[in-house]
Amino acid sequence: MTLTVHNVEVVYEDVMLVVKGASIRIPREGIVALLGANGAGKTSLLRAMSGLLDVHRGKITRGHISIDDVPLNTKRASDVVRAGVSQVMEGRRVFVEFTVDENLRIGAYTRSRTGQAEKLDRIYEMFPVLGQRRAQRAGYLSGGEQQMLAIGRALMAEPGYILLDEPSLGLAPQIVDQIRDLIVAISRSGTGVLLVEQNAAMALSIADHGYVMENGKIVMDAPARALRDDDDIREFYLGTGAGAGSLRDVKHYKRRKRWLS
Ligand SMILES: Nc1ncnc2c1ncn2[C@@H]1O[C@H](COP(=O)(O)OP(=O)(O)O)[C@@H](O)[C@H]1O
Ligand SMILES: [Mg+2]
Repeated sequence: MTLTVHNVEVVYEDVMLVVKGASIRIPREGIVALLGANGAGKTSLLRAMSGLLDVHRGKITRGHISIDDVPLNTKRASDVVRAGVSQVMEGRRVFVEFTVDENLRIGAYTRSRTGQAEKLDRIYEMFPVLGQRRAQRAGYLSGGEQQMLAIGRALMAEPGYILLDEPSLGLAPQIVDQIRDLIVAISRSGTGVLLVEQNAAMALSIADHGYVMENGKIVMDAPARALRDDDDIREFYLGTGAGAGSLRDVKHYKRRKRWLS
């Protein structure tokens, strides 16, 4: 089984073209990383995959998204979740007024209530800190705990695929390590993972395959190992670079340098 995005174009407010024909594949086995600088179009692509573009005045104007031969791009957000794709949005959106327990139960809204207690138990087993705070309001959790809650909530829908939008953003390195281990555990349990990250080092340390998005286009598509070893990626995304504006700038600069020498 594979979640496939084929040649998708996203336009906001009928005029702003921000995703310009992107194709990615997420198998049920393994972790796929989607890297790219701020503004590249990663979140927009995720919104397209989750049926969430319309609330942002966006549309898919070309291409299609499917799980095997079941089309997703014509479905409403709740039906995308029913079809097995859950998203954890950027900025760990939890319902701050609700308790941890309530937040998790909301995550299962597309499912029948039978077996809900067992599902909750499983989530608390995976996230012991949430279990200790199940009656607490989510707004009182730390940033890392809120991120875990957001991930746990997505898992309550028992998705075949989970889309994570920058889960490490703003978290301390130690917490990032915990989140990374959780993502590995989620993948091992048989859920396909799309991991959107600006933290390329973290994402590539656990991903099997990676894509790099720039200016609305996929500019690299390769096994994670190859991306980890790629000089341009190392320079621009793994923090050893000299502050070039984009991956293309790095390549351009190198071509110039070769030409001069
Ligand atoms: N609702 C919106 N309306 C108009 N433009 C948007 C909207 N959301 C995002 N954009 C623009 O789309 C581009 C891609 O943004 P985004 O998908 O958030 O990129 P990323 O997640 O890679 O940072 C940016 O130029 C951003 O300003
Ligand atoms: Mg984003």
